[in-house]
Amino acid sequence: MTTYITTPIYYVNAQPHLGHAYTTIVADVYSRFCRLCGDDVRFQTGTDEHGDKIAEAAIKEQVSPKEYVDRISALYRESWPQLHIIPDNFIRTTDAVHIETVQRVLQQVYDQGDIYFGEYTGLYCKGCERFLTEKELVNGNCPDHQRPPEAITEQNYFFRMSKYQQQLIDHIHANPEFITPERYKNEVLSFLSEPLEDLCISRPTSRLTWGIALPFDQNFVTYVWFDALINYLTGIGYPAGESFQKYWAAAEHVIAKDILKPHAIYWPTMLLAMGLPLFQRLHVHGYWNVGEIKMSKSIGNVVRPADLVAEYGVDTVRYFLLREMSFGLDASFSSGAIVTRKNSDLANDLGNLFSRSMAMLEKYTDSQVPVPGATEESDMILQETARQMLSQYHENMGRFQFHRALQSVWDLISHANKYIVVSEPWVLAKEPAQQQRLHTVLYNLVETLRLLTLVLRPVMPETAQKMAAGLGLDGDDPRISNFSQGAQWGLSSAGTRLQAIEPLFPRMDKPEKSGGAMAVTGTAAQKNSPKKEKKKGGGVDVGVIEFEQFQQIDLRVAEVVHAERIEKSDRLLKLTVKAPDTRTIVAGIAEYYTPGELLGRLVLIVANLKPVELMGVQSQGMVLAAKTEVEGKKRLVLATVSGLVTAGSKVA
Ligand code: ME8
Ligand code: MG
Repeated sequence: MTTYITTPIYYVNAQPHLGHAYTTIVADVYSRFCRLCGDDVRFQTGTDEHGDKIAEAAIKEQVSPKEYVDRISALYRESWPQLHIIPDNFIRTTDAVHIETVQRVLQQVYDQGDIYFGEYTGLYCKGCERFLTEKELVNGNCPDHQRPPEAITEQNYFFRMSKYQQQLIDHIHANPEFITPERYKNEVLSFLSEPLEDLCISRPTSRLTWGIALPFDQNFVTYVWFDALINYLTGIGYPAGESFQKYWAAAEHVIAKDILKPHAIYWPTMLLAMGLPLFQRLHVHGYWNVGEIKMSKSIGNVVRPADLVAEYGVDTVRYFLLREMSFGLDASFSSGAIVTRKNSDLANDLGNLFSRSMAMLEKYTDSQVPVPGATEESDMILQETARQMLSQYHENMGRFQFHRALQSVWDLISHANKYIVVSEPWVLAKEPAQQQRLHTVLYNLVETLRLLTLVLRPVMPETAQKMAAGLGLDGDDPRISNFSQGAQWGLSSAGTRLQAIEPLFPRMDKPEKSGGAMAVTGTAAQKNSPKKEKKKGGGVDVGVIEFEQFQQIDLRVAEVVHAERIEKSDRLLKLTVKAPDTRTIVAGIAEYYTPGELLGRLVLIVANLKPVELMGVQSQGMVLAAKTEVEGKKRLVLATVSGLVTAGSKVA
């Protein structure tokens, strides 16, 4: 199989931020996943360097446009390796070969009669040097220059986009995966249900010179989108290059919802006009907000990828971004959320599974992979869980449902942690008659870790590398680097020497600056920690209560087995929990959690609170959450327990 995966080429009027990093990490993870599956992959990103916006930015910085774009483009190019993103090609629209290709395409489309000269009337702002849309106006004025734009009529070149409208609609219907997720396909189809206008593809040089000259009229430069979209072809050597022949048929584009229209309408109609096959799939994701707020320079809440890497480590950032965003929907970034994921998913679940298993192997088999004995029921269940994980992982990675793929990986991790507890290797180790059983359990843990190394490789390459080293495997051993060869149970070889490695994910403290009052949650969480001297921490003065008073509160661990929104309430979720009895609890967390992400979570509840009725639902208890503030916005973070706890356990 062949795969060609692209990101948008980013405008160089801003520096790379979390949003750009997300899209580019997604493309990197997908390209690594396809390579894991044995595909021949090409991954391209780059920068978009022409047009009004860039020309303006250069003027502001008082440098020539070329000097300016060279500088910012380099910032993008250099930030990707820091995130362990490895594109095969970095394209710039100022590259000579791109300019040549755009001109060739324009000439071809012009010669065949799909570009015509016409008149355009629009609202032009001299201050901005561009046409404004009705939507941009504030009380009829340009918001930047506080005066009404002029209605001017300008002569320009137009691309006959309308001619290809029906063909595009038919293509979308015939290819259900052409635009995914579904909601964006529907948005495009609904837009296409109205007649399309032709696309103005030129700008007169009297207004803008920073662009690609039209080959058939030197008084105009190319509109930036007609220029930029063609990068996807230039980058693989269109029209003559060998790479073009090989990769174009496999093209997949990743973008966010902001540029859906150019990619789902302009681009396919341009390709139809060129007589080229359309791309295979367009993957559209939502927006990252900071807390609940849109990221923006003027608000000053722009998150820089390099800062994240310095603070949390590259693999934590990659994992967090893929796990936290449901591909297609918006997501919220906060330092609290990333620390929570690092501590619970990475340090506790994955890190602990790895270090406990390795420690037992060191102690009981002198760090050698043992020979397994007969398989018992618990082993079969572990194997079955692993098998399911592999198939769900494969399916969901291929469908860009990264959060689901990772969820199934973590299902196996938590199952394996439970497997250790029920198998009690430390008890088996004391009984000479149980040696074989001990070896079976330890072998199964090695196998689980090997499979985890295989599947985590695209998402967390550095961690997978460390795990491989710990397991005594070479980085390109097919059992951890080739999905079709490695994704089956039982490939670890007895006798392989394991290596001691550093802990994968040291725990982090919660960010101080979020200033969160940990309230009741703080107390409960500390009870879990083995270090008793922490007791005085917490920092919140709730007055002194007697121990007896505290004992009256029945705090329990509860598992969320069902969650749904309460109609007519923005704030409330109705949870069904097991503690271990099944009960209903109404929680005011709907602004911070979706029902889906609560399923299966272990939360802390007050189990003996007098029931109350909220919005017509009886609430039998209360869920504990930390009240915190992230970038000036209130937030609730559920108190959870990590480690091996069953629903209903008392917290004291
Ligand atoms: O639109 N959340 O460039 P651009 C998630 N040059 N993703 C985000 C984001 C956010 N808050 N902000 C930006 C352009 N992105 C054109 C593209 S392609 C032929 C030309 C990401 O610099 C996301 O991928 O404005 C979005 O689509 C892209 O950056 C827009 O980048
Ligand atoms: Mg943009």
